[in-house]
Amino acid sequence: MPSRAPAYITTPIYYVNDRPHIGSAYTTTLCDVWARAMRLDGRDVFFLTGTDEHGGKVEKSAKDRGITPQALADENSAEFRKLLGPFCLSNDDFIRTTEPRHESQVKLFVERLLKSGDIYLGEFIGWYDEGQEEYITETRAKELEYKSPISGRPLVRATEKNYYFRLSAFQSRLEEFFKANPGFVRPEGRFNEVLGRLRDGLQDVPVTRTNFTWGIPMPGASEHVIYVWIDALFNYATALGLGEPQGALAQERAKYWPPAYHVIGKEILWFHAVIWPAMLMALDLPMPKCVYAHSFWIRNGQKMSKSLGNFVDLETIDGFFAKYGVDAWRWYMTTQGPIGTQDADFSDKHFHEIYTAHLVNTFANCASRTSSMIEKYFGGAMPAAETASMPISAAAGAPTWSAFTEATAAKVARHYEAFELAEAADAALSIVRAVDLLINETAPFKLAKDPANLPRVAEILAACAEGVRVAAVLLTPIMPSKCAEVLTAYGSALDGDRARNGLAAAARWGGLTAGTKIAKCAPFMRVDAPVA
Ligand code: MSP
Repeated sequence: MPSRAPAYITTPIYYVNDRPHIGSAYTTTLCDVWARAMRLDGRDVFFLTGTDEHGGKVEKSAKDRGITPQALADENSAEFRKLLGPFCLSNDDFIRTTEPRHESQVKLFVERLLKSGDIYLGEFIGWYDEGQEEYITETRAKELEYKSPISGRPLVRATEKNYYFRLSAFQSRLEEFFKANPGFVRPEGRFNEVLGRLRDGLQDVPVTRTNFTWGIPMPGASEHVIYVWIDALFNYATALGLGEPQGALAQERAKYWPPAYHVIGKEILWFHAVIWPAMLMALDLPMPKCVYAHSFWIRNGQKMSKSLGNFVDLETIDGFFAKYGVDAWRWYMTTQGPIGTQDADFSDKHFHEIYTAHLVNTFANCASRTSSMIEKYFGGAMPAAETASMPISAAAGAPTWSAFTEATAAKVARHYEAFELAEAADAALSIVRAVDLLINETAPFKLAKDPANLPRVAEILAACAEGVRVAAVLLTPIMPSKCAEVLTAYGSALDGDRARNGLAAAARWGGLTAGTKIAKCAPFMRVDAPVA
């Protein structure tokens, strides 16, 4: 039986002073694949994304354009929201940090922290990265040669009378927690970075600012506004109503905490792996389950940046959608992206090669050859044949189709659950490869020339059709529209996205009954290679 435990997955909330691009679309797509996979496996999932709208940078950009920060936030938040449909993103909520539901709960959280003494008024002198709006410790500043790791601009010496969060008090609790939860930060290499930095010792962090006003006012000291990072991290809790445990929102959504999966890029790991858990400890809230920090997309070997003008922006992505379709885009993001500790290079040529090899020559080719032959030899109806105990190939010791697909479906489900999305994709595609092998080994198109062979052809094509169906079920979280197209052509569309009986049941061998109408389909077409 599928697990009924609720699941929660979050993207970072994106800054509204930037337009969406491959980076934000990537993280949100990974989360979407996971959310869809968990729903398909019968889990009750809550998938959250949104926009981070306060801070000095937004205030400044708005001023430069002669509009209010709220108008700028409204405009750019809408840009992020507009992506959801075209990218097939199935988020359950979209949170904005300027919404009253968020602001009111942030104030409540901060009041609790003031009361407990975890936030106090103090003076601070330190190295400040103006671009990132972030203080950097002396040791780290030295390592970075007093330059911003992001923009390369010099760090500035800043003094502030501010409210501080007593992060230093959580050093040993965090160390113990990390020791007891070795999978808390993934991938492992990133966890080691955090542990290394933790050994330098923790300093208290400022949680308010006085040099601008675009933020949530500090309760009881409105000349201070709450630091944008503190405000932003709370989004994961405010979306579930955790700031008001008796409120209506919490009644409905508190069940999604704590099994939270925070998926982020590597540059914001410290906030998520150290500051956020310490804030939760101070609030006596349980820890999230995992912080997954992926690496970066780079472009032709170079970091993407505004100054280089080499961002894979929405216009570029639109071009890929027009040529290859959104499902191919999602396939490339899921299988070729920087999900581990290495950055991944986005290249038009590589995209085209993957599209052709995996989607045209493998997935589409099998779906199309099988459906065409069923039409040609069996009038477009699923042939009657017993295939469950048929071996998948002529190789000695080859498993039967039912055993092979059952084991593969279980493997795919495990990989999805563990956020090993490229592995899930590969395992699901292995079923298509087995179908391909069966067609090549047995050549049903040759056998069919002799009517005496029709029972054997029926058996082969019934196995192929069922294999295509099972693979399309398992690939649905990654390519929702193309898989729906194949499943519909194969007379076996899924009944909604929250499969009641789980992934294993939906993928169980024998779902296609004899006589089911199978229409010809070719989900991915060959397209011209990009000009180099
Ligand atoms: N607002 C903060 C996050 C607050 S979360 C409580 C922020 N926003 S951001 O708009 O800069 O988005 C950063 C995120 O965008 C990264 O963590 C990552 O998810 C994604 N990416 C931005 N550029 C990227 C690449 N080049 N490659 C992959 N993802 C990257 O930081």
